[in-house]
Amino acid sequence: MAKGKKAVGITETVLRDAHQSLIATRMTTDDILPIVEKMDNIGYHSLEAWGGATFDSCLRFLNEDPWERLRKIKNKAKKTPLQMLFRGQNILGYRHYADDIVEYFVQKSIANGIDILRIFDALNDVRNLECAIKACKKEGGHLQATVCYTLSDYHTNEKFVEMAKQLENMGANSICIKDMSGLLLPYTAYDLITKMKKAVRIPIQLHTHYTSGVASMTYLKAIEAGVDVIDCAMSPLAMGTSQPPTEPMVAALQGTEHDTGLDLDALTEITEYFVPLRQKYLDSGLLNTKVMGVDINTLKYQVPGGMLSNMVSQLKQMGAEDKFAEVLKEVPRVRADLGYPPLVTPSSQIVGTQAVMNVITGERYKMIPNETKGIVRGEYGATPAPISEEIVKKIIGDEKRVTCRYADTLAPELDKMRKECAEWIEQDEDVLSYALFGQVAVKFFEYRRAQKYKIDADLVDMENKTYPV
Ligand code: CO
Repeated sequence: MAKGKKAVGITETVLRDAHQSLIATRMTTDDILPIVEKMDNIGYHSLEAWGGATFDSCLRFLNEDPWERLRKIKNKAKKTPLQMLFRGQNILGYRHYADDIVEYFVQKSIANGIDILRIFDALNDVRNLECAIKACKKEGGHLQATVCYTLSDYHTNEKFVEMAKQLENMGANSICIKDMSGLLLPYTAYDLITKMKKAVRIPIQLHTHYTSGVASMTYLKAIEAGVDVIDCAMSPLAMGTSQPPTEPMVAALQGTEHDTGLDLDALTEITEYFVPLRQKYLDSGLLNTKVMGVDINTLKYQVPGGMLSNMVSQLKQMGAEDKFAEVLKEVPRVRADLGYPPLVTPSSQIVGTQAVMNVITGERYKMIPNETKGIVRGEYGATPAPISEEIVKKIIGDEKRVTCRYADTLAPELDKMRKECAEWIEQDEDVLSYALFGQVAVKFFEYRRAQKYKIDADLVDMENKTYPV
């Protein structure tokens, strides 16, 4: 059953994860749009083009409306399903939101063009996926539920398979194994996929990063074990902390029982579009060659690529770059203290920042950011392993811990948010930008308004000082 002739699907990540992983999510809509129609004609399983950090980056760094980006991409990609990455109860932000915000966000994502929602929870606590799963199914979207892959004494292939079965029972249309750090080794992947294919009936997709250098080998073994879809990025923005390159994967499978059916010549035209863009990012310093190589530390410390670059920049700001090696060693210790969370947004930032603090202050847990306390309080869900009494005491003292689904403790927020940002609303979706990013969104709304007046002023000018009618 696991083997036999079956075309492997490819999800192209160059418009989301690839640039999130390599250039801090700074690809602009202007960089994206000219190539979308050609990509739409390739026959990809899906185009991952939204969600993850792109939403935050649009508002915070690019002065772009993320919703507008989605509509523009959809307008040029009419055939290929558009896919987004959605952080369960965190949506695309960094805290837990009330259910009404989650539901409305899912509804608007689908209404604006998303076909496939890949939903994950940083702690693999399935209670944090419930609300988004229900909303996605209600809106008629394809619900891809995610198993975050990580390594620890508490994680085994059998447990990941168990989780996949649970997600299938919750109504998932497909399963994603999300290996955000590039830790999944080829033969482990073969074992994991073989077991998971036996346990669930829905398609299984594999997502990994090239960080540790094994990713293409891992895909090949996963394909031999019957994986249905793999995530790849066009070669100019592939490898390093990004995904395995699309074109070599297509070539490797050509003429075999797993042929992707994609046309290499057509793909080459897309490659050619991204080559000068890559050069542009290199020239501007956005793309640092440091993230392009094989980083063996990921296998040793199990740290995702994005987290490595975050920690480097935190240390740089503090003038403590020489402490990097020490911080790297502190990361697994903090992770163990906090119950072995998989390292993915937002747990990766929380563990990373705490590790930096522990090293910089010279004393473990002398400084404790509120987010670390949040994990211990149970505000992100249940950790894979229990947190020791000693650590609980050290981090939150006698504060109460939450054991239920955390969102059950949150009152509806949508109406309140609508009132707070009423003066800025130009489209229904604006309240969601505000709910997730508060002042960052307001700053963008101010910019948008200023732009509008500037454009109006130009019009006035062109009409020889008369007002346009
Ligand atoms: Co990824």
